[in-house]
Amino acid sequence: MTLSPSAFAYVADLVRREAAIVLETGKEYLVEARLHPLARAAGLPDVTAYVTHLQSPVGRVHRAAVVEALTTNETSWFRDREPFDVLVSHVIPDLLARTEARRKITIWSAACSSGQEAYTIAMLMAEHVVPKGWQVEIVATDIAPSMVRRTQEGRYSQLEVGRGLPAPLMVKHFQRSGTQWQVSDQLRSMVRAQTLNLAAPFPLLPVFDLVFLRNVLIYFDQPTKHGVLSRVRRVMSPDGYLFLGGAETTLGVDETWHRTAVGRFTLNRPRPQVDGPLPPVLPHRTPRTLTGAPLTSTLLSTQRAN
Ligand SMILES: C[S@@+](CC[C@H](N)C(=O)[O-])C[C@H]1O[C@@H](n2cnc3c(N)ncnc32)[C@H](O)[C@@H]1O
Repeated sequence: MTLSPSAFAYVADLVRREAAIVLETGKEYLVEARLHPLARAAGLPDVTAYVTHLQSPVGRVHRAAVVEALTTNETSWFRDREPFDVLVSHVIPDLLARTEARRKITIWSAACSSGQEAYTIAMLMAEHVVPKGWQVEIVATDIAPSMVRRTQEGRYSQLEVGRGLPAPLMVKHFQRSGTQWQVSDQLRSMVRAQTLNLAAPFPLLPVFDLVFLRNVLIYFDQPTKHGVLSRVRRVMSPDGYLFLGGAETTLGVDETWHRTAVGRFTLNRPRPQVDGPLPPVLPHRTPRTLTGAPLTSTLLSTQRAN
């Protein structure tokens, strides 16, 4: 390993200041692995030399690339499956009832990575919401400009579509484009992608009915998690729903959220300012897919079949 302790400390401080990502001691291997290609591209012999270069006036232009290289962009279609089952079985019916007058649903996929989450939501909206006459807007954001570009393009490799995308949905919503798969214009027209740093003050955003803030709070310290959750709450409809990742919670972080368990999944909703009962989540109705089978079993069986 070539990374000096002071080089690691410099990078950890940079990434925490710019993206609020915490790199604890012990993550030297990660910094080394992620920055090695950047050092090579800059013609420098190792990562420590690259970090020294970063600190010079000419090297500072590379700092954004360093922050981006240290984001973790792991994602997949229908990731964890259960949130999307709950979305279809409980949340969509409730939202349709509540938004009857305006017939528009606005959704935020915050920390969208390469867009699989936003397009997973778009596919479900295309199946269960758009045919009823509703308009759907999905704002997909990420701190990493390369991820925002990928989301805008909506092109995925064979390996990427193989990670959780059920075959019937692939056939319906994707077209082959050379060695890649291109998301349909219908889905792309629902999704607007832009860069956004969750750890900084938010730009002007619409009021969201649903926010997917999944698998990103895990990278932040407690005060940052609290700050992000309070800012998210301010851009949400009072009747809205917040989806977090499996290892994330509002519990003990921000008590302005009300938690409702649906099966093994927990939905978060803004707690009313004046204490009073939240509108109940509508009773469970097992959604049917186009083939008439319950959604979960169809997804599972098609995933297994592939
Ligand atoms: C593990 S991915 C999660 C993707 C998707 N939400 C999912 O659950 O599959 C985490 C994403 O958070 C983004 N990220 C990290 N720090 C961020 C920040 N401060 N603001 C916005 N996005 C951030 C990364 O660029 C990365 O794409």
